[in-house]
Amino acid sequence: MKTQVAIIGGGPSGLLLSQLLNRAGVATVVLERASREHVLSRIRAGVLETGTVEMLREAGVGDRMAREGIPHEGCYLTDDDLMVRINFKELTGTSVMVYGQTEVTTDLYAAQDAIGATILHGVEDVVIGDADGDAPHVMFTHGGQRTRLDCDYVVGCDGFHGVSRATIPQDKRRAFERVYPFGWLGVLSRTRPAHEELIYANSSNGFALASMRSETLSRYYVQVPLTDKVEEWSDARFWAVLKSCLPSEVADAMQTGPSIEKSIAPLRSFVNEPLRWGRLFLVGDAAHIVPPTGAKGLNLAVSDVHYLYQGLIDAVTRGDTRGIDAYSDRALVRIWKAMRFSWQMTTTLHRFDGEDSFAAQMRKATLRHLAQSETARRDLAENYIGLPY
Ligand code: APR
Ligand code: PHB
Repeated sequence: MKTQVAIIGGGPSGLLLSQLLNRAGVATVVLERASREHVLSRIRAGVLETGTVEMLREAGVGDRMAREGIPHEGCYLTDDDLMVRINFKELTGTSVMVYGQTEVTTDLYAAQDAIGATILHGVEDVVIGDADGDAPHVMFTHGGQRTRLDCDYVVGCDGFHGVSRATIPQDKRRAFERVYPFGWLGVLSRTRPAHEELIYANSSNGFALASMRSETLSRYYVQVPLTDKVEEWSDARFWAVLKSCLPSEVADAMQTGPSIEKSIAPLRSFVNEPLRWGRLFLVGDAAHIVPPTGAKGLNLAVSDVHYLYQGLIDAVTRGDTRGIDAYSDRALVRIWKAMRFSWQMTTTLHRFDGEDSFAAQMRKATLRHLAQSETARRDLAENYIGLPY
């Protein structure tokens, strides 16, 4: 097999990149380990920055999002009963779009099908070869057949546990990591959202987030010790803890019901530098992980694609490598800023086991400062709606 750009991973990064390249006439093959159903069953954050919305439109997948996505002009940060509204629209002139990652991925698959893109599912034992030479290739097993795919470039969009990052020799990469001592227990329920806007809650009982997918579908999270198991969390226990973290006026009016999904995810900050080794590039979760507190995971994957795709088109069609040569440095500047914001949101809103009494006071003071200072709220809003590309 032969193609111009081999893409490992058919999550949002791989699909968006493939779509933008195909629309410019560049040939791609997407190699995805899981089935399409499996990829679409993952529940992930759904807050899209303006830049992400624009990129999806540019890729020709903006129509359903425009109809079904919910624009949000603000969100709340709370501290027990203190509610601080961050008015994105007033502070920055723009808003965010609430549209689930699953919906984004569904739309990308449909668009790729419509243009006849090659996406192979159930691909096993991917091995990237000669990435540091002029003629890279990818070996993989599909339908019991070991296959060789020759290409000009390989892009690793295969998430945190993929093979692409691990292909780069240890002495050619550097990892920066912070692992947080808690996870998020998430629940999806067919209930009216607790509030029309997202609520990020700091409280004496820990962190909680009230989010949503639609007017009838809610998504909630509470912080839990990493040692907790989902089985230990009955619906009743979850709702009780969630309510104890939210402002009482919200908790009292909240609709509860049976959970339709419940899972625990760890929180981590991670960056791999650089994002390139020879003809191999890393994009999205393959290169970096943020804790979900700032909703930056999907948005960062999209900004990576933004920095890479035109460069790949120029390299493949005209032999002009300036864009791909600049990719790693350009993308990393924005990645580190989003890392800082996600880390700051995480430390401002979570209780750390074993922390001293000073730490809780710092969180309270930060929330009180936000309530009083428009400058502080604008800084938060600018980061939340997405820093410029
Ligand atoms: N071979 C082929 N495919 C692989 C391999 C492999 N060895 N390893 C992983 N994959 C696939 C996974 O099955 C997954 O579908 O790569 C895909 C990576 O997708 P994501 O993890 O969604 O990463 P990305 O596309 O970069 O999206 C980043 O989505 O996952 C969220 O939290 C993440 O919001 C962030 C955004
Ligand atoms: C979600 O709706 O799942 C969600 C929203 C915002 C976040 C994280 C998760 O910061």
